[in-house]
Amino acid sequence: MRIIQDENYAALSCRTAEIILAAVREKPDCVLGLATGSTPIGAYDCLAEAYREGRATFRHVRTVNLDEYAGLGADDPQSYRYFMEKHLFSRINVQRENTHIPNGLAENPALECRRYDALCEALGGIDLQLLGIGKNGHIGFNEPARALDVHTHTVTLAESTRLANSRNFKSLDDVPRSALTLGMGGIMRAKRILLLASGEQKREALQKAVSGKVDPEVPASFLQLHPDVTVICDFDLNCAEL
Ligand code: F6R
Repeated sequence: MRIIQDENYAALSCRTAEIILAAVREKPDCVLGLATGSTPIGAYDCLAEAYREGRATFRHVRTVNLDEYAGLGADDPQSYRYFMEKHLFSRINVQRENTHIPNGLAENPALECRRYDALCEALGGIDLQLLGIGKNGHIGFNEPARALDVHTHTVTLAESTRLANSRNFKSLDDVPRSALTLGMGGIMRAKRILLLASGEQKREALQKAVSGKVDPEVPASFLQLHPDVTVICDFDLNCAEL
């Protein structure tokens, strides 16, 4: 694991965007694994700026997102499809048919999960996977558990996750109770992974992820087993505390 501690969120965002842009330049039709949440918004802003300034094109890029809330459709402002349109897709020249997110409205979620895994495989796998981390150590919506799922699956969200994400909803009651998420296998098969953490409130989870035991109760700790992970945070990780 390579760990980079940046000065602040702006530096983290800019560095993340530059890594993504380099991957796109090297392989114009690369498959980007994308995340939602607060953490990558700054990097998406930098990507949009690079496109606006003519420094980048995303015409041939393919994207697969990590997760989507069950029961929310593309028109719902709380859905992750809506989030991606707002923060990135509408601001760059990615082709909509090349952007993929699990369908939160699928009538048969189990079938949708299988479709999503098959799609990732058909795309040739994820070249660069962007990840945030939950305060409880989740990645995607792979929540702490006694055992983790390999494949895309429907997950019951941890109450701490619903509480953390309720900031984007009118009330906690409005936060969906389940989501569709890429499984640990899908994440671990990515050729390269960028794990982002912003804000001191993520320090403990990140410490456990990078130097704790590999433990399904801290899903991000499995990233220690991946051969090409770069961690970017904007605080002093201070791993000696462990
Ligand atoms: C989002 C996702 C989640 C978030 C995590 C951190 O697609 O999969 O794992 O990355 O919950 O969220 P923020 O960035 O809002 O702190």
